[in-house]
Amino acid sequence: PMPTLRVTAHGLALEDVPLTTIAATYGTPCYVYSRTAIEEAFERYRTALPPERAEICYAVKANGNLSILRLLAARGAGFDIVSRGELERVLAAGGEAKRVVFSGVAKGAAEIRRALEVGIGVFNVESAAELTRIAHIAREMGRRAPVALRINPDVDPKTHPYISTGLKRNKFGIPVAEALALYRQAKSMPELELVGIACHIGSQLLDPSPLLEAAERVKDAVEQLERNGIALRHIDLGGGLGIRYRDETPPDIPAVLRALAERFADRPERLMFEPGRSLVGNAGLLLTRVEYLKHGEEQDFALVDAGMNDLMRPALYDAWHEIVPVVPRSGPVRRYDVVGPVCESSDFLGRGRELALEAGDLLAVLSAGAYGMAMSSNYNARPRPAEVLVEGATHRLIRAREPLEALWALEQ
Ligand code: LLP
Repeated sequence: PMPTLRVTAHGLALEDVPLTTIAATYGTPCYVYSRTAIEEAFERYRTALPPERAEICYAVKANGNLSILRLLAARGAGFDIVSRGELERVLAAGGEAKRVVFSGVAKGAAEIRRALEVGIGVFNVESAAELTRIAHIAREMGRRAPVALRINPDVDPKTHPYISTGLKRNKFGIPVAEALALYRQAKSMPELELVGIACHIGSQLLDPSPLLEAAERVKDAVEQLERNGIALRHIDLGGGLGIRYRDETPPDIPAVLRALAERFADRPERLMFEPGRSLVGNAGLLLTRVEYLKHGEEQDFALVDAGMNDLMRPALYDAWHEIVPVVPRSGPVRRYDVVGPVCESSDFLGRGRELALEAGDLLAVLSAGAYGMAMSSNYNARPRPAEVLVEGATHRLIRAREPLEALWALEQ
């Protein structure tokens, strides 16, 4: 599933850097990302439609490392953020405030104030109460807040329930039926500037049809607004396009973008997309070392030095990540549960994997570039792993392994 992962005589390499070199230089566990893979994924989005037709705002939540934000900013990406922390990351990486979309259901007053102060591009508003709060803060600051309403199109994205967001029972967005009234209300507030409409139905979408269906609902809403004298500048169709982890057939990015743009061919508004996973997911892996093998009565275990705190997706969503030996060895293949050091039975990276292993072997957990490091924690007082970016034959540390003292630095 990873386009820049290579099999060489010395084992696996990401681009031209052997993973054994990474482990020897930076230790394990360690996230390793391919700059080329990220840039190629971004180029697929960027070149799918002419720039005046569409803007690509990277969803920072997928992986907020400053080096990754910086390289995307340099290629022309805008950013989709959900917190003040993500906003400050984007600014620290040299991203432009004007190109920032602020999503999220529970924006705090201080977050809104800071976003207005730096002049972000748009707030994707998720409720009437939030709209009122933004207007109130803008008035206090003597500013006009650019807003879009995020509508909930009530379509089933056919993905994992934890990452579905566009159904009526989800907490996200404003029901289509209520949108017109709220737009009218917003229009009457001088401290608000109505710039767009937004929707996002879920993540790891493999079938593009729910996206097209959501786009139809958004388009209906835009036309209804127009009939009511409300003109917008952009239409934000969210993110969510899925990637291959195992044997999925992911949607063809340029084809989906063009199919969506087709639906809006008769509309003057600029389109906007908020991809996260599909830009970085298959660009990164988690490198880990086998500490011990344990052959139980019922199950064989490979106990590795990365755990659920480093990569939470298997524990949280039962997500499947391919796990491959960095230097394959011959010898008996067993069905291993690949598990971490954390004191939980949900601490697994993969279960029932056919592998030939010895203690000390390196394993690569693939497609971990999105929602890997970003969702990591310090559970069990485990420092977060290092992050390394490779490009061609070069590699550099883009985040140091967390020092232990950092774990209690804020404590008494
Ligand atoms: N825009 C909004 C408003 C979002 O909520 C999200 C993701 C995105 C864009 C980016 O979606 P993407 O292109 O990455 O699918 N932790 C989960 C994924 C959570 C996604 C949350 N929202 C996972 O590891 O699968």
